[in-house]
Amino acid sequence: MYSLRLKKWKFWVTRFTLCISVIMSLPSFRISINNLKETEKCPICFGLAACHFIDDNEITINHRDMYALFTNAFGVKNVYYGKLRNRDVVLKKLAHRSEFNAFDESISKVVKEKYSDFQMLVQRAINTDMNDTMSKLRLCPTVKHVNLLFNNVLSKEDFTYEHLWTLIKINPEPLILQILPSEKGWPVPKHYGACGRLVIQEFVGPSLSTFSGEPWIRRAAIASTLLDAAYMFTFQDENFAYYLTDISSDNIAIDSKNRAKFIDLENIIVVDKTTPVKDQSKTWQDVHRSDGNFDCETCLVFSPAEICEHKVSDHNYYAICKLILAQRISKTQISKGFLHDVPAKILEQFPTLTQLLSQCSDPQLFHQRISSGIELNKLLQNIIKYV
Ligand SMILES: Nc1ncnc2c1ncn2[C@@H]1O[C@H](COP(=O)(O)OP(=O)(O)O)[C@@H](O)[C@H]1O
Ligand SMILES: [Mg+2]
Repeated sequence: MYSLRLKKWKFWVTRFTLCISVIMSLPSFRISINNLKETEKCPICFGLAACHFIDDNEITINHRDMYALFTNAFGVKNVYYGKLRNRDVVLKKLAHRSEFNAFDESISKVVKEKYSDFQMLVQRAINTDMNDTMSKLRLCPTVKHVNLLFNNVLSKEDFTYEHLWTLIKINPEPLILQILPSEKGWPVPKHYGACGRLVIQEFVGPSLSTFSGEPWIRRAAIASTLLDAAYMFTFQDENFAYYLTDISSDNIAIDSKNRAKFIDLENIIVVDKTTPVKDQSKTWQDVHRSDGNFDCETCLVFSPAEICEHKVSDHNYYAICKLILAQRISKTQISKGFLHDVPAKILEQFPTLTQLLSQCSDPQLFHQRISSGIELNKLLQNIIKYV
């Protein structure tokens, strides 16, 4: 009786899946790149540098596997999977339809009035009030060096202040991918360019969340690259520090070499480390310590105003250690961190591991988070090498 029911159930599931696949592969369900790019919206768009890939038919959208079929057909998250020649890429609209509609409505007035002064609009868009929760990219404490920040981007042929302004307003991710290029070792996907309101970037791999059941040693290797990233975003650029404010395991992807890359760079605070003394707050030279406690599972508690008052903040270490790597205890539940279930043998051989992780997550002493994170990374690298 039981097995008969199971067979029937399986029969219907198979039929249902088959029907969905057939429906979705119908031409009307197929997404066309030409519909996605919306180049008629230019110059209020992301740029035109990658249009030649589309015009030369070098990009194909993946309609084959079930997941891609589903996400492409329903535009889940407005991310589409495809190929650029033989490379795996994602095509991103960077915002949802409703966000574009609201944006287009709100700008029609601005664009008509100020058409010639997008440089001024860029300054204004980036110089946002600290209480403005809609702001996606902040440059602080001042915007004096805005041209230095966007140097790489603005020096590209055909890239205009209109494009820059649109990206700051809609989603600054492609700007960050060019300021911190993957070719120079930054832990982000490669940016292939924009065409209208579509951008093309490297497909990195599956999200970090799908690795939580992997053997501990593989997770340790990934964790080490996350700590490398926290260091790079904070210290590597001598002019600016980059604090990612939407870190989560869905916003990090892992490449084929177990390297973590940050794939959702929509929300970021850029601190100008070269701020002149007269614009520095009294606390400028003190390392900022993040100490928000989570009252929900995945939220990151931070204050942009506080981060902007310091040349260095421990925010990136706080996000990586407390939100991703260590165990999280919220009001409602306890969840295992990414480095859960350390093998007993490793704990025996490397007894400081637990302490360093907890100091990076919840430091007891002032200033201890970053140094503990750096020590933890060294230890993980030793473990990976010798175990
Ligand atoms: N470069 C990429 N490589 C691999 N997967 C990606 C990439 N960019 C986005 N994705 C996938 O698409 C999802 C949504 O993209 P994301 O940029 O985070 O958009 P949203 O702002 O809607 O969260 C991610 O969680 C990830 O699964
Ligand atoms: Mg995301």
